[in-house]
Amino acid sequence: MAFPPAFIDELVQRNPIEDVVGQYVSLKRSGANLFGLCPFHGEKTASFSVNPDKGIYYCFGCHKGGGPVNFMMEIEGLSYPDAVRSLAKRAGMEVPEDEKYQSRYRQQERLWALNKEAARFFNAQLYTEAGAQGLAYAQKRGMPKSILTKFGIGFAPDSWSALTDAMRKKGYSDQELRDANLVSDKNGHIYDRFRNRLMFPIIDVRGNVIGFGGRVMDDSTPKYLNSTDTLVFNKRKNLFAMNYAKKTKMGYIILVEGYMDAIALHQYGFDCAVASLGTSLTEDQATLLSKYTDQVVLIYDGDEAGQNATRRAIPMLERAGLQVKVLKMRDAKDPDEYLKKFGADKFKVLLEQSSNRVEYQLGAIAKKYDISQDDQRVKYIQECAELISTLPSPVQREVYSGRVAERAKISLDAMKLEVNKCFKRRMARERRQQEKQELSPAKNLQPKSRSIRYDNIASAMAEETVIAMAMRENALLDRIGMLTPQSFSSPLLGKVFGQMLSRHSQGLEVSPAVLEELEGDEMSHIAYVCQRQQGPISEQAFADCVRKVLDEHAKRSVTSADALMALRNKMKESKGIK
Ligand code: UTP
Ligand code: MN
Repeated sequence: MAFPPAFIDELVQRNPIEDVVGQYVSLKRSGANLFGLCPFHGEKTASFSVNPDKGIYYCFGCHKGGGPVNFMMEIEGLSYPDAVRSLAKRAGMEVPEDEKYQSRYRQQERLWALNKEAARFFNAQLYTEAGAQGLAYAQKRGMPKSILTKFGIGFAPDSWSALTDAMRKKGYSDQELRDANLVSDKNGHIYDRFRNRLMFPIIDVRGNVIGFGGRVMDDSTPKYLNSTDTLVFNKRKNLFAMNYAKKTKMGYIILVEGYMDAIALHQYGFDCAVASLGTSLTEDQATLLSKYTDQVVLIYDGDEAGQNATRRAIPMLERAGLQVKVLKMRDAKDPDEYLKKFGADKFKVLLEQSSNRVEYQLGAIAKKYDISQDDQRVKYIQECAELISTLPSPVQREVYSGRVAERAKISLDAMKLEVNKCFKRRMARERRQQEKQELSPAKNLQPKSRSIRYDNIASAMAEETVIAMAMRENALLDRIGMLTPQSFSSPLLGKVFGQMLSRHSQGLEVSPAVLEELEGDEMSHIAYVCQRQQGPISEQAFADCVRKVLDEHAKRSVTSADALMALRNKMKESKGIK
């Protein structure tokens, strides 16, 4: 076990869930629960609940849940041990450091320090003879010294060992250089991975240097060489320049494709720019953005790849609760080029003209069709009507219907009719789906997270109740008869039950908040199961559920024993035939 159970107990007791959550979310009491706006997904009505008695939070919107440790992991993006450490600090407790975690933590700190040293080394190179061409290139790209310093931009010399030598001198081992992905390996010898490149350090929201992107200075490929993921770097969970953009007062964040674009925007006074890290936008990045803003302006390149990326990014950002605007680049291929050609004032105008995603999408549809041809005009109208019919507000539907009608030269009434038709068709489709779901309730009982599936719904429902009741009323764990974790049909519920038994047998309190070794979505599901348990608990109801789990388990054993027997008979038969 990682931390001693008794320590975790005290930690959870001294960090009441409502206090821990209350630091981030303003909560209002309603009955036994507190409610607030979920910090994990954007929302306008409070579906985020905190139950002080059970020591858990649960969001009915995004289905995240857990105890104080999980909350800290989610909200601050911390690992389990780091979340425990931060809560311990909050409560003024000393952490009994576990050997395994401690060494991992130390390793992380070493990598952060090494990356920072490397960034310093690269930056210093700019002002040496070996780095003169790097500085010249940066200047050619219009970057003043202040910007080079602010972003810690540097130069990796055209050498196999310049960085390696410098870092060895600072006391870093070859293995640490490998772990940071700063070197490559050949026959056991390491050599600098980044050579003759302009270096962009990637810095996380807490200010740690976690990786690098390195750009060639000519047309060779790859144009950018990026750090691969390491213990401290995950390119799908971070955004370039987020460490600065998180402090912006502009009220929105600008998301661009390139490092150079983000840097140019900051240089020209738009301190709210971030860039993804050489991948298309991920869910984790959308969530990260939603922690700091509720509006994102997307500026992807004008080419087809950029348009496709925009189309993919919009729903992802909206799912994270973000309002999306799209800026269409004109007369330049990207923001960097635009700013340098036309300056900040012109860009500001462009920014003000950036359209909301509906306008943008209608524009994209218009481009697909030649509306001087009747058949294409009909398709154009239909596709626009489909999009407009998904808008929640009648005012919005009216306004955009008007625009399309005007453009396609039809009457507003005809357009509205078309939108209505789409609307009704979709409602009917949704109703049919709803009915289908209601007819197969088993589907509704499956956990919200797709990574957890129940093979035996009937048993799993009883297993959930056993766990939820016993969490509330620990004494019930003395009344489980023959029930063991192995009787459970769901491996997750069985694992949780096992942990509960083990704690109970040690005389420790059992609550969802002290569970260990669960993935985030597993913990969320357990929080869901526990928060659902309301009202008085009867021993009879508990006993019934225990019986149900045992019965289902017996049935499964019988079936598998039967199947085995049948197989044996079959084999005997076939032998007999021969
Ligand atoms: P761009 O090719 O648009 O580069 O790629 P850029 O940032 O505008 O740089 P300049 O203006 O040409 O100097 C956009 C982003 O895609 C990733 C990088 O994150 C880059 O900033 N990328 C691009 C790579 O990771 N590898 C590549 O080879 C190319
Ligand atoms: Mn560019």
